[in-house]
Formats: sequence, C-alpha cells, structure tokens
Amino acid sequence: MGSLLQHHGCRLPALAETFERMGRDINNVSHQEMRSLACAQCHVEYYFGEDNYLIFPWDEGMRAEDIAYYFDQREFADWIHPLSRAPMIKAQHPDYEIFTTGIHYQRGVSCADCHMPYKTEGGMKFTDHKIQSPLNNITASCQTCHRQSESELLRNVYDRQDMVNDLKKKLENVLVNTHLEAEFAWNNGATENQMRDALHLIRHAQWHWDYAAASHGGAFHAPLEMVRTLGNGRIESNRDLMACESLCGCRIHLTFDPGVDLKGQK
Ligand code: HEC
Ligand code: HEC
Ligand code: HEC
Repeated sequence: MGSLLQHHGCRLPALAETFERMGRDINNVSHQEMRSLACAQCHVEYYFGEDNYLIFPWDEGMRAEDIAYYFDQREFADWIHPLSRAPMIKAQHPDYEIFTTGIHYQRGVSCADCHMPYKTEGGMKFTDHKIQSPLNNITASCQTCHRQSESELLRNVYDRQDMVNDLKKKLENVLVNTHLEAEFAWNNGATENQMRDALHLIRHAQWHWDYAAASHGGAFHAPLEMVRTLGNGRIESNRDLMACESLCGCRIHLTFDPGVDLKGQK
C-alpha cells in the first residue's frame, strides 16, 4: 500500500505511528481497511500535543469511554465550562472510530463503497470522485449489495437517524441542567473538594454526547454504538444531577423540561 501512504502523505504517518503503539502494522491491513484509513486521516478524533504534534488518542481503545480515560490520564482539557467550571474535552469528528463498531465495517465494506461508488461509462468502471451523501444515488451506493427497494433503504436510514437524534436531544437537555445545577451548588458555597466528583461526571457525560454528536453519519454507520454511547452519557448526567442536588440540598427549577424524573415529582 506504499502508493496510498505517499499519496495522502500528510496524516498517514501519524496513523502508522498510532497503529504501531497499538501493536499493529499499518502496512499489513487489508485493501478495504486501507481504503477506509484514507478517509480516517481526517474523519477521526485527534488532538495536538506538544509542538503541535498530531495525535490520535486510541491507546486505550476507540470507544468514547476509552478516549475519555486516555484524556483523564493526561489531565487534558480543551476548555473550562464557564458555569459549572467542569474541565471539558471537545470531540472533533470520530467518524471512523464509530464506523468500525458497525456492521458494514465488520463485513468489510469501506467508506468509498458507499460515498464514492463505482460508475460505469462506455464499459469503463471507475470510482466516482465526488464524495457525497450515498442517499443521492442509492442504486450505485446500496443496491450493489442490497436488493431492497430504494424507499425501504431510505426508510432504514431515516429510522436509525430519528431514533439516535431523539436520544441525543434528550441528553442535551439534561446536560444543560447539569451545568446549571453545578453553578447553583458553587453559588451556594460548595467547595472544590465537594465538587470534584460532580465535575468529573459532567465532563464525561458531555464528552459522550459530543463524541456521538460530532460523529457525522454515525447514526447510520453504527446505530447501536451511538445509542450505547448516548445512553452512558445519560446515566452519567443523571448521577451528576443527584450529586449536585445533594450538595445544594435542593432541586432547582428550570424553565425547560429536563426530561428526567429524579424524584418522582414531575
Ligand atoms: C484531507 C482531509 C479529508 C480526507 C482525506 C477526507 N475528507 Fe471527507 N471531509 C473533510 C472535511 C474537512 C469535510 C467538511 C467539508 C465541509 O463541510 O466544508 C469533509 C466532508 C465529508 C462529507 C460530507 C460532504 C457533504 O457535502 O455532505 C463526507 C460524506 C465525507 N467527507 C466523506 C469522506 C470519505 C468517504 C473520505 C475517503 C474516501 C473522505 N471524506 C476523505 C476532510 C477530509
Ligand atoms: C459492499 C456491500 C454493501 C453496501 C455497498 C451496502 N451494504 Fe448495507 N449491509 C451489507 C452487509 C454485508 C450487511 C450486514 C448484513 C449481513 O451480513 O447480511 C449490511 C447491513 C445493512 C443494514 C442492516 C444493519 C443495521 O444497522 O441493522 C442496513 C439497514 C443496510 N445495510 C443499509 C444499507 C444502505 C442504506 C446502504 C447504502 C447507503 C448500504 N447498506 C450499502 C452490505 C452492504
Ligand atoms: C454502508 C454505506 C456507508 C459506509 C460504508 C460509510 N458511510 Fe458514511 N454515510 C452513509 C449514509 C447512508 C449516511 C447518511 C447520509 C445522509 O443522511 O444524507 C452517511 C453519512 C456520512 C457523513 C455525514 C455526511 C453529512 O453530510 O452529514 C460522513 C462525514 C460520512 N458518512 C463519512 C464516512 C466515512 C469517513 C466512512 C468510513 C470510515 C463512511 N462514511 C462509511 C453510508 C455509509
């Protein structure tokens, strides 16, 4: 695969190094995997270390919780939330990571199979170099493998997107509350020591949301992993609300529906 490595020279060396740290040799991956890695150069989670050095934080694994653990070990934060003062991590776009947990990856389908399907013109077969939504050309993107109708395939995609988005929005609402309740606890005299666990939960809860939200296409690429990730974020944010409420001894009333029923009062 030397030619591909040279072709996309900018970031594949960093990917190769990351593979080496994980005990894998990028030169031994399958042709299909290499086609996906060509996209993974950019469509991944990454951050810049010392001297602006590009790093893929996969040493502990590629799931949201693995990467959170990686950043926790390094006490890394992108920003401090102005209300809750939680040390936050910002997700880039973990498209590849989430894709690898889905069935298409597991059956050896690569990004380009759907996003740059083959075209035939005058008997010649070539890859369509215009990267776009596969839904613009379901015949070439999906029906090469699936015999279902276009409308059914479309419904399959939209169903998954709707279900994931529903959970994502509910988690968003709870997250807003976690920041407000933490702020309320601070304003009522909570100490740094008392707040430590609560802030850690907020950091993790929002990271789970962000990891899923920033993964473009994840709702179709790997719906189960998206729901698992958002569900874990929801559990962490609920635990955070309980921690903050026990610190300030109350439940603050917010103007919007937090979507949770912590004390059976709603
Ligand atoms: C050099 C970095 C880079 C590489 C390599 C790359 N992309 Fe992208 N891609 C981007 C950026 C940046 C955007 C966002 C463009 C924008 O929205 O302005 C993008 C956008 C997209 C979109 C959304 C496009 C749309 O208009 O709906 C898709 C789908 C996509 N890329 C798929 C792929 C696939 C599949 C591959 C591999 C064949 C790939 N990309 C390789 C950087 C890259
Ligand atoms: C290169 C072959 C290939 C292409 C292209 C392809 N698929 Fe699949 N798809 C598969 C395989 C293999 C499975 C796993 C099912 C199996 O093993 O029988 C699968 C599974 C699915 C599933 C069920 C998975 C789930 O999430 O429950 C859906 C829905 C699906 N494909 C839709 C699509 C759509 C929509 C497109 C086009 C955007 C597409 N596929 C493109 C091969 C393909
Ligand atoms: C089985 C087909 C299939 C494969 C393989 C696949 N995708 Fe997708 N992808 C889709 C579908 C379908 C969508 C949803 C498009 C829509 O909603 O218009 C999507 C959405 C996206 C989006 C969001 C586009 C937007 O405009 O929001 C990006 C980015 C993307 N995919 C990148 C990738 C990358 C990178 C890979 C490989 C790591 C990959 N995809 C593999 C089918 C696929």
